[in-house]
Parts: sequence; C-alpha cells; structure tokens
Amino acid sequence: MFSETKEGTTRILVPALPTKSIFYNPKMELCRDIDIAGVAAFLSSLPSPQAPLTYIDALAGTGVRGIRVANEVGLPVAINDRSKPAYELIKRNIELNEIVERAKAYNEDANVLLLQNNYDLVDIDPFGSPVPFLDAACKSVKKLLLITATDTAPLCGAHSGGLRKYAAKPLNTEYHPEMATRILLGRVTRDLCKYDRAIQPLLSYSRSHFIRIIARVEKGAKKADERMKRLGFIAHCFSCGNRFAFPCSDMLGMNVKKKCEVCGAAKMRIAGPLYVEAIKEKRFCEQVQEELVKRELGKKKEAMKIVATCINELDIPFYFEHHVICKALKVPPPPISSLIDALHLSGFSASRTHFSDTALKTDARIDDILNLNLKSRKM
Ligand SMILES: C[S@@+](CC[C@H](N)C(=O)[O-])C[C@H]1O[C@@H](n2cnc3c(N)ncnc32)[C@H](O)[C@@H]1O
Ligand SMILES: [Zn+2]
Repeated sequence: MFSETKEGTTRILVPALPTKSIFYNPKMELCRDIDIAGVAAFLSSLPSPQAPLTYIDALAGTGVRGIRVANEVGLPVAINDRSKPAYELIKRNIELNEIVERAKAYNEDANVLLLQNNYDLVDIDPFGSPVPFLDAACKSVKKLLLITATDTAPLCGAHSGGLRKYAAKPLNTEYHPEMATRILLGRVTRDLCKYDRAIQPLLSYSRSHFIRIIARVEKGAKKADERMKRLGFIAHCFSCGNRFAFPCSDMLGMNVKKKCEVCGAAKMRIAGPLYVEAIKEKRFCEQVQEELVKRELGKKKEAMKIVATCINELDIPFYFEHHVICKALKVPPPPISSLIDALHLSGFSASRTHFSDTALKTDARIDDILNLNLKSRKM
C-alpha cells in the first residue's frame, strides 16, 4: 500500500506504513531541498554550453532524490536500488512525474553500477556509513559528489569504528559534529586522490543525525597532491579546552608539542587525519541561497538558515560551545552575539557556526576568550 506525498514540485509514492524493503524518511526533505538548490547552483556555475550531464542516485529507496533532480533541475538521471520492491516503486514514481525520457531505473548493486559507468554527478545516500561505496563513487564521478553519512557515533568518537572505517581517530569533544564532517571529508579526499582526482568542498553541513557534503571533483595528480596538503590533525587539551589544528606535513603529529601551552597539562590528545581547510566555497553557498529563494520547497526556511550561517562561518576547523566557556568563567551565558562582539572589539575574528546554535568560531585561543573579562563586561 502506498500513499502520495509531495516534495518541492515532485509527487512521490511512499510506503503507507514503514517497511524494510522500501526506505523513505520524511525528515530528510530538508537535505533533499538543499540538494536541489545545490545541484542547480552547480549547473549554473559551469561554463555553457555543456552537453547534458549525467547524475546517479545510487542508493535511491523510493527514488525521491533522483526523481526530484530530473523533475526540478531537469538533468538526465539514473536511479538505482538493489531492493526489488524499491526498484518497482522507482519506476512508478518516474511515470507519475512524467519524466520517463530522462530517468532510468536500475536494480543493481550500487558498486557494480558505479564501477561500470562514469557519471558526472554521483549521489551516495546510504544507511549509516558511506564508506562501502566511496571507492566506486570516487572512481565513477567526474564533476560533483554528494555524500551522506548517518554513522555519526563512530565519526564523533562516541563509539569505536572511526579508525576502522575512516582510518582516522576522532575525539569526543564539544565540537564533535564538525570533527565528524571533517573526518568524512578527509576520507573522501584520500579516496579521490587514488584516482588522481581532487576534492573541492562546496557546501558541507551537519544536522541532527546526518552529515552531508557537496563537493566539486577536479582532475589531475598535481591538484590531488595539493589537496592532500589540506589534511591535518587537531590537538585538544581536555583539561582546559585549548585546541589547535596543524598540517599532516608536521610529521604526522611528531613535531607537535604534546604539553598544553595554556594550562601546562602533560598531554594534549590528537584527532585525525582530517580535513582542516575550508569546507565550503562562499560563492557557491550564495548561489545555493539564490536557488533556495526562487524555488518551491517545503523546508525552505530551515534550509535558508543553514546556508546563510554557512556563508558567514569562519573556516576555522572547530568551535567553542559558549556554555563551556561560561562554566569555566562561572558566569551566566551571555547571548552569543555579545560574545562575538566582545571578540571583535578585542581584534579577533569570530562568527556563529551552523553546527550549533549555541556555539561560536574564533581565532582567539581559550585563554584569550577567558581573558575577555566577561565577568565585568556588561553584556
Ligand atoms: C538510506 S536509503 C536511501 C534513501 C533515499 N536516498 C532517500 O533520500 O529517501 C539506502 C538505500 O540503499 C539501498 N542499498 C543498500 N545497499 C545497497 C547496494 N549495495 N546497492 C544498491 N542499493 C543498496 C537500500 O535498499 C536503501 O533503499
Ligand atoms: Zn590545557
């Protein structure tokens, strides 16, 4: 039994009751709305005229992502799921939206399809970790990668598995959603590099249970080498909250002083390797914002808020939860905006972060923040 729902301007048949064989999560409409604006923004950034690009929704469920891309952006799409009932429903959803001429359903193993064909845009939206599909996706993709991860526990350092799946060590810090996003980006960087392809993150964000990255793919061994230099580590002191990032070239952590320069604690902990440079391109995010404004989208308001915050977010690879700072100072938490103003007045950079409504990014060190004299300052 199916019921009809609508996302954007697309009609979708979904299982009336949850079933194991056909997956549909209405909570991911937000992610799909941002994707539609993201794919449209990416296409408008390309020099025209272009031959029509190809897109694959490799793990499609009902087919909603791919069908929306064909219907709302107009790209020719391949939509695949290895579940037979899902495949049958994808075909019905293609007919329902009258896009048979530009959408084709497949009932294959995603890795087989990706290894057999190159696609310009590759979308990987799995249950849990994308790692089992990353190698084939990176081999197949020519221009744009869209990747979801919902295995946030191992990526954040809350469970084991970070090392096993991502070949990186996470730490369970107050900024773990960002650490998770950067560990995933680091892993994709390395998977692409094997095929002399280079990553350029355009928009990376995390929300509730998922991480989504949208990244341009560029060709060339030289570029790939250059992008590898964007990998690094983060040192974190669990005694005082001091933290800093450093590049892989510092001998994989050997050159880093383990002693905390702020509080003197004997050992800072090291997370990584992870992506330590900018995880978004400002101009691209502005184009996504323009696309969001002009489209009919169910989650437009929430999508606009995330993208607007990303646009203004500093490219520093961690943030500070302001209740942690205020606890150390034994002061009641002031509004984030006053804390940001105080940092600006003292000559530091500071911004909000989309990763948390109650956190800020700054180039100030923890002792600089604590010395802002928040206690006596009238906020
Ligand atoms: C999280 S769901 C996809 C949700 C969908 N993209 C959406 O936005 O609603 C993951 C899907 O991957 C399919 N899947 C899992 N392993 C697969 C494989 N090796 N090849 C193809 N499909 C696979 C599952 O049947 C499931 O439908
Ligand atoms: Zn310390």
